[in-house]
Amino acid sequence: KLKIVTIGGGSSYTPELLEGFLKRYRELPVTELWLVDVEEGQEKLDIIHALCERMIKKAGVPMQVFKTLDRRAALQGADFVTTQLRVGQLKAREKDERIPLSHGYLGQETNGAGGLFKGLRTIPVILDIVNDVQEICPNAWIINFTNPAGMVTEAIYRHTNFKRFIGVCNIPIGMKMFITDVLQLTPQDELKVDLFGLNHLVFIRDVVVNGESRFDELLEGIASGTLSANSVRNITDLAFNEGLIRSLRLIPCSYLLYYFKPKEMLAIEMGEYYKGGTRAQVVQKVEQQLFELYKNPDLNVKPKELELRGGAYYSDAACEVINAIHNNKHTEHYVNIPHTGHIDNIPSDWCIEITCTLGHDGAQPTPRITHFDEQVLGLIYTIKGFEVAASQAAISGNFNDVQLALNLSPLIHSDNDAELLAREMLLAHEKWLPNF
Ligand code: G6P
Ligand code: MN
Repeated sequence: KLKIVTIGGGSSYTPELLEGFLKRYRELPVTELWLVDVEEGQEKLDIIHALCERMIKKAGVPMQVFKTLDRRAALQGADFVTTQLRVGQLKAREKDERIPLSHGYLGQETNGAGGLFKGLRTIPVILDIVNDVQEICPNAWIINFTNPAGMVTEAIYRHTNFKRFIGVCNIPIGMKMFITDVLQLTPQDELKVDLFGLNHLVFIRDVVVNGESRFDELLEGIASGTLSANSVRNITDLAFNEGLIRSLRLIPCSYLLYYFKPKEMLAIEMGEYYKGGTRAQVVQKVEQQLFELYKNPDLNVKPKELELRGGAYYSDAACEVINAIHNNKHTEHYVNIPHTGHIDNIPSDWCIEITCTLGHDGAQPTPRITHFDEQVLGLIYTIKGFEVAASQAAISGNFNDVQLALNLSPLIHSDNDAELLAREMLLAHEKWLPNF
């Protein structure tokens, strides 16, 4: 028996996750997939559940899929719990983007003011889930894709003693796919990617193929602008400055555009804001179309259109992590975990995103990386300071803590604006912030 419980099971991404399990069925025979959602999500849950049944039938495997609004009942006997929820749905994300933009600040779901408020709404819910897991299925692993994944992982390790929590993102695996593509690698090639940093703030510092580093040619391509490592649909693909890349000697993930090009990124987002097309607004349309497709009783595979979402391929990250733990594979993945002193130049209690080996005992950071590169240490410290303050605010429900967190974000440029934003956003999200 292998039981997976997916919280936020009514998400439009679930077909992506199920496809990942079906592809790996021989190695990872999931017997039960439980989709859990909340009352507001009932209609979507029903549509997703029916589609999952058709996908399983088409695949012809003995997997069962269940749906329920009773999370605690679903958790009984779970081996893995995946979390992919969105408190307040996309309407709340729209406010996370539009309110900061209306004050001339970047509006983004995992960075700056938007990221903070997504964290404030999400962290208490994930804490509740962790408490339930500790009580009902303490040996289960929680694989979290809920954003802001870095802040959420940090909060869980800071404020609970649960140790089987792993944060996952599709950015690293997207960058790995880019590398595989550019270097025209085959499954026979052995590829090692040295990746480090924080969630949505990662850098690649080496790429080794069959024992030989191919990093320089990739860096050269990115510096000269002939290659782009941007792997996601939700970020406008601008080229990093050539001199920056050459002096950095690291490949930044595309979220670093918000820190190296805040001016340009803001200008683009402002344009979208005035046209009424921020990412959350685009995504709501995509979702509507997806659910129309999902309702079609003849559809029995994941539709191509799901690739319009930024989370495409996240199931490859998630299912491989589960596979590695379940089958004690000791393969390499890129996950968010506490490094517990493994990195010698950052505080030992931080959670980070790093190349890890995964098996029965969870994730072990690679011995190839024991030191964070000095040239990006300042930025990493700054963002971690913001994440720690944000997780504190989510738990305390204290207005001053929110203000502090906002002031620590390098994307907010005035203490008075921070206060204004904090007040306006608290009010806007009141319904989803019960501890404020
Ligand atoms: C990237 C990030 C995810 C995020 C997604 C947003 O893939 O890694 O963490 O959820 O983008 O995509 P969306 O289609 O919702 O804008
Ligand atoms: Mn992500």
